Amino acid sequence: MCNCGKNEYTPVPSKLQDIIKHTAQEWTFRFTYVGDVKPGQFFQISIPKVGECPISVSGIGPDYVDLTLRAVGKVTDYLFENFKAGDSLFLRGPYGNGFDVHEFEGGELIIVVGGTAVSPVRGVVQYLCETESAKDVHMIAGFKDPGEIMFKADLKDWAEKIDLTLTVDGAPEGYGGKVGLVTKYIPDIPIRDISKCKAIVVGPPPMIRFSMIELVKRGLSEDNVWISDSRRMSCGIGKCGHCRINDKYVCIDGPVFKFSEHKTLID
Ligand SMILES: Cc1cc2nc3c(=O)[nH]c(=O)nc-3n(C[C@H](O)[C@H](O)[C@H](O)COP(=O)(O)OP(=O)(O)OC[C@H]3O[C@@H](n4cnc5c(N)ncnc54)[C@H](O)[C@@H]3O)c2cc1C
Ligand code: FES
Repeated sequence: MCNCGKNEYTPVPSKLQDIIKHTAQEWTFRFTYVGDVKPGQFFQISIPKVGECPISVSGIGPDYVDLTLRAVGKVTDYLFENFKAGDSLFLRGPYGNGFDVHEFEGGELIIVVGGTAVSPVRGVVQYLCETESAKDVHMIAGFKDPGEIMFKADLKDWAEKIDLTLTVDGAPEGYGGKVGLVTKYIPDIPIRDISKCKAIVVGPPPMIRFSMIELVKRGLSEDNVWISDSRRMSCGIGKCGHCRINDKYVCIDGPVFKFSEHKTLID
């Protein structure tokens, strides 16, 4: 319980305004929400008698937040199978620190993302595009195969405003786009001043690890790289200790960390 007298674990009902289907397994759920929220923060989706799961904010509107989910288990599968636009669900949040978008204004920025990890950086890219601070943004977005490419409308729009490399791990013969892991394209990024360049790297841990190797080879400082940690959570509010590493709680001190700090956190 917090001092305000409310039980912090109590989820709030939220109407599902829309469902946007990207692929068979990855859908965006648009939840009614009015309040402060930052890209990189997350909500706990709460389904009574089923469970809860943390999901990053992928879009922010005047009266909604978008949460983009991959159906992988108990809660996410239940959500995909049992809910439609107009239904009511429960949310807790927003939680976590999120990205400080002002940190990335104006300067050179590299963004490396894979799969649903586009979600937490989508708001950062949109902010930079809307404020015309995106001229030195180089983004590499990787997906498993052409059928798994998400946020296609955004990617098309961003391609006109930033230096975007869209790649897939593998593709059928005749595919006209780029093929290869995101790491393949890091050596090609045109960087003017690596000492001031910043980076955001979000995706599965191996993707982050190998991307960091390539970025450091380019001369990028680990202190100028931000990552988002998606380790398993329970309460989301710093009470249960589930996400604790050393003296840090990923749910409240993160999930966004500087890479230089995150690498010192040993499980
Ligand atoms: C801060 C944060 C943000 C996240 N944002 C998103 C998002 O935007 N979109 C999205 O689709 N998912 C996101 N996830 C992951 C998502 O929370 C898990 O996939 C979710 O717990 C699945 O719940 P479930 O009950 O459906 O699956 P479960 O039945 O709990 O698990 C299904 C499978 O996934 C594995 N798993 C579950 N959680 C994790 C995890 N955190 N790391 C590695 N393996 C895991 C389990 O071991 C199991 O194999 C995020 C996680 C965190 C911590
Ligand atoms: S999830 Fe409970 S302390 Fe972080």
